[in-house]
Amino acid sequence: MAQRAALITGASSGIGLAIARVLGEEGHALTISARRPEKLETAAEALRADGLEVQSVAANMTDEENLVAVFAKHREAYGRLDVLVNNAGVGIGAPMEEIQTKHLDMQLGVNLRALIIGTREGLPLLKEAGAEHGKALIVNTASIAGKGGQAWLSIYAATKAAVINFTQSTHREVGGAGIQCTALAPGFVDTPMTEFAKGQVPGEEMIRPEDLGEAVRFLLRTSRNCHVPEIVFTRPGEGLDTP
Ligand SMILES: NC(=O)c1ccc[n+]([C@@H]2O[C@H](COP(=O)([O-])OP(=O)(O)OC[C@H]3O[C@@H](n4cnc5c(N)ncnc54)[C@H](OP(=O)(O)O)[C@@H]3O)[C@@H](O)[C@H]2O)c1
Repeated sequence: MAQRAALITGASSGIGLAIARVLGEEGHALTISARRPEKLETAAEALRADGLEVQSVAANMTDEENLVAVFAKHREAYGRLDVLVNNAGVGIGAPMEEIQTKHLDMQLGVNLRALIIGTREGLPLLKEAGAEHGKALIVNTASIAGKGGQAWLSIYAATKAAVINFTQSTHREVGGAGIQCTALAPGFVDTPMTEFAKGQVPGEEMIRPEDLGEAVRFLLRTSRNCHVPEIVFTRPGEGLDTP
């Protein structure tokens, strides 16, 4: 059986894939999940080609049964969970008077509801890992948009503010059980999600997905006595609440 295991949602590209790679390099057997099966399998193959142990489980995060099945398959494969990365997310911009309810529901569903359900599903095994070594991790991908309101991205920003707050609550509830909870709050990262912004900020000037991977490596290496509640990533010269 694997010595350590991690489950990462939204791991078929961008930040989730970069974090999955680091967790694999650091000795974790991986379950990676995302919505589109072919894209996910391509990511899994790339990780396996680097010698990492990976199972891929496609799931739509808005579907509770799908999401619960990811955790069941993880348990079946590895029997333990040391690191949970709730990373899947979606951002749909719109002026407030034009908000479409289906886009509201999708962002709440993927960015917040799935993260809460995932935390619930992951906790039993995370508690076992916490009792064993005192250093299980829950890493939730928020955003710098969660640090301050954003015009035209109001729903996305609200879900990410809620992610930061939910991460704090989770830590207050389970921190004593050897589970450390951290919210990652980056500005623009060069991933498929920021294609819309690359006319204004070139991709090569954005934060690298690997920077967030390295942040998770850091979280793995700090002592069990050191809790890092949140990491904010900005581009040089940027403010703390603007993407
Ligand atoms: N890029 C940025 O500037 C930035 C800044 C701050 C925070 N973030 C956050 O970082 C996280 C990762 O985003 P990214 O930038 O790495 O973008 P990305 O490369 O587009 O990754 C998004 C991931 O989420 C998955 N996903 C989206 N909707 C899903 C659904 N309904 N069910 C299951 N999986 C779903 C995607 O899978 P499919 O491709 O198959 O849909 C993909 O694996 C998100 O939470 C995002 O809000 C990004």
